[in-house]
Amino acid sequence: MQEFGYINKYKMIRFENVYKSFGEREILKGINLIIVPNKTTVIFGVSGGGKSTIIKHIVGLLKPDSGKIFINNFDITLATDREMRELRKKIGFLFQSGALFDSMNVFDNIAFPMREHLDVSKKQLEYSIYSSLELVGLKPDEIINLFPHELSGGMRKRVGLARTIVMKPAIILYDEPTSGLDPVSSNLITDMIRTLQHELRVTSVLISHDIAESFKSGDYFAMLFEGKIIDYGNEYFFKSSLSPVIRQFLSGSSRGPIKFR
Ligand SMILES: Nc1ncnc2c1ncn2[C@@H]1O[C@H](COP(=O)(O)OP(=O)(O)OP(=O)(O)O)[C@@H](O)[C@H]1O
Ligand SMILES: [Mg+2]
Repeated sequence: MQEFGYINKYKMIRFENVYKSFGEREILKGINLIIVPNKTTVIFGVSGGGKSTIIKHIVGLLKPDSGKIFINNFDITLATDREMRELRKKIGFLFQSGALFDSMNVFDNIAFPMREHLDVSKKQLEYSIYSSLELVGLKPDEIINLFPHELSGGMRKRVGLARTIVMKPAIILYDEPTSGLDPVSSNLITDMIRTLQHELRVTSVLISHDIAESFKSGDYFAMLFEGKIIDYGNEYFFKSSLSPVIRQFLSGSSRGPIKFR
């Protein structure tokens, strides 16, 4: 068995030449990427380019056709189901769709992963749920008994975030955490990603279509284009890049190598 006990300590993610096709369509064509521990890495790319596909590989929801994916020095493409289940406890995934359970109130939604994975007392459960709601800026007493349809879009995202952090993840994956939100709620979530980063010292991966927001939350940036990571660097490197793809992406111009369908 491979050793992954150090995930709490290092939390580095590494893609090595990862290929993935769906049917005839090759989406990932040799992804090489290092996600630095305790920092936020943003993945930029056009819609349909494969960003969600990349992060689904990190939680093992998808397996590559070829290539390797390491978390620390543990190759998750070789993990058994049991090892993958263990690993997932340490990875928080905020889905693109938000994905709360409609039939459960806020308390049960957040309790769900803990009941599933951990053996905790009722007191511990309550304490963890209340503190994770407070961490995402919600007042537990006001919303704990509400159902998802009684919450606004921004609150649902924050409850989703509370459910993610209640497991004390070492890695958090955010797939468009602010899509569909007004600018104020969007800003709140963006600030929260920063705060969580500092308070929980997690390794984060963020996918976002909002460039200004990404530069606020991110430390490192990777540009996905035609199935490959074509550029990678910090904000300064990215903003001063001469790459025509990056320049077009940042400017939103319709002219350039990126073809919109
Ligand atoms: N499970 C699947 N089966 C078949 N095709 C898929 C599957 N998952 C993704 N795809 C296809 O792969 C491509 C990349 O999808 P993906 O969701 O990764 O893009 P994305 O970059 O996240 O896009 P967006 O910004 O719109 O969310 C799309 O064309 C999508 O239709
Ligand atoms: Mg996506």
